[in-house]
Amino acid sequence: MVVVGAGSVGATYCYALAQSGMANEIVITDKNEELAQGQVSDLVHGQPFFPTVIIRQGSPKDYSDANLIVVTAGAAQKPGETRLDLLKKNAAIVGSVAEEVAASRSQGVMLIVTNPVDVLTWVALKRSGWERNRVIGSGTVLDSARFRHFISTHCNVDVHNVHAYILGEHGDSEFAAWSMTNIGGIGIDNYCPLCNACQGWKKERMNIEKQVRESAYHIINAKGSTHFAVGLALVKITASVLRSQNSVMTVSVLLNGEYGLSDVCLSVPSVISDAGVVRIVAGPLAPEEMLLLNHSAEVLKNAIASLG
Ligand SMILES: NC(=O)c1ccc[n+]([C@@H]2O[C@H](COP(=O)([O-])OP(=O)(O)OC[C@H]3O[C@@H](n4cnc5c(N)ncnc54)[C@H](O)[C@@H]3O)[C@@H](O)[C@H]2O)c1
Repeated sequence: MVVVGAGSVGATYCYALAQSGMANEIVITDKNEELAQGQVSDLVHGQPFFPTVIIRQGSPKDYSDANLIVVTAGAAQKPGETRLDLLKKNAAIVGSVAEEVAASRSQGVMLIVTNPVDVLTWVALKRSGWERNRVIGSGTVLDSARFRHFISTHCNVDVHNVHAYILGEHGDSEFAAWSMTNIGGIGIDNYCPLCNACQGWKKERMNIEKQVRESAYHIINAKGSTHFAVGLALVKITASVLRSQNSVMTVSVLLNGEYGLSDVCLSVPSVISDAGVVRIVAGPLAPEEMLLLNHSAEVLKNAIASLG
């Protein structure tokens, strides 16, 4: 597999992926070749401590054999800058990488991480000319993990027993799909009265959702970028592609009539295998959630239109 972009996110992802034992070979490229070489050297010196894997510096020539191409190349979000501010800068970078990947005749899956990820997934899809299942965005996989973390802490329940999804844009218009949220198999609307440990669960839910939405801003203000949790989210997506695990994750995918939406990429629960998205699980949403999904789609369509 090939990682394009050896910055904070790309390098952290490679570090986590190497330790996971999921990949046979990790090829790292960056327009800053010295940086890519430095990251490769730093990683290979750790080889005695993780499962056997080849890690090397590469180039676009490596796209043709790759089963997965992960694009983290671009500018990082600056303090105070919204994800949509980055749009034009990063559309040019991701668009040209997507064209090079398509020209290589790779049969793999392209995973876009660069922000704003939903719009750039759409750009990569159009510029590559690939089928929609093979061009996916990391979408709200990270946000859904944050959501699970905050519910787990609030309810004092193991995060692994919390099933919960953030849908829509990976950004300000994202929303919590409370109707799909369950703890230990019990829907949240039934769980809260059973638990009865907090006062006013409706207000608590709004606080949790706000914490999820504002997480990236807080972390970027504190340390300049987010990379640990996103690196792990990318390993989870990678595992599902490399091992055809059919995991259900909220990746960003082109909608083609699902939920009544078309020609926009956003996050909805999808089954991921070696062919990319093999099924969109377009389950029913509550009426207020449908409104929020439509709002996200509108925000993203406007952003796509602003590309001209
Ligand atoms: N989708 C998510 O959940 C999520 C989470 C965190 C960060 N991100 C995004 O990931 C991207 C990378 O973040 P980062 O912190 O690693 O940034 P970074 O600045 O540390 O790294 C980006 C790297 O891309 C390289 N690059 C730029 N143009 C290139 C090109 N044309 N070809 C090859 N390499 C190129 C740069 O040299 C740099 O090393 C950003 O857009 C950020 O907003 C997404």
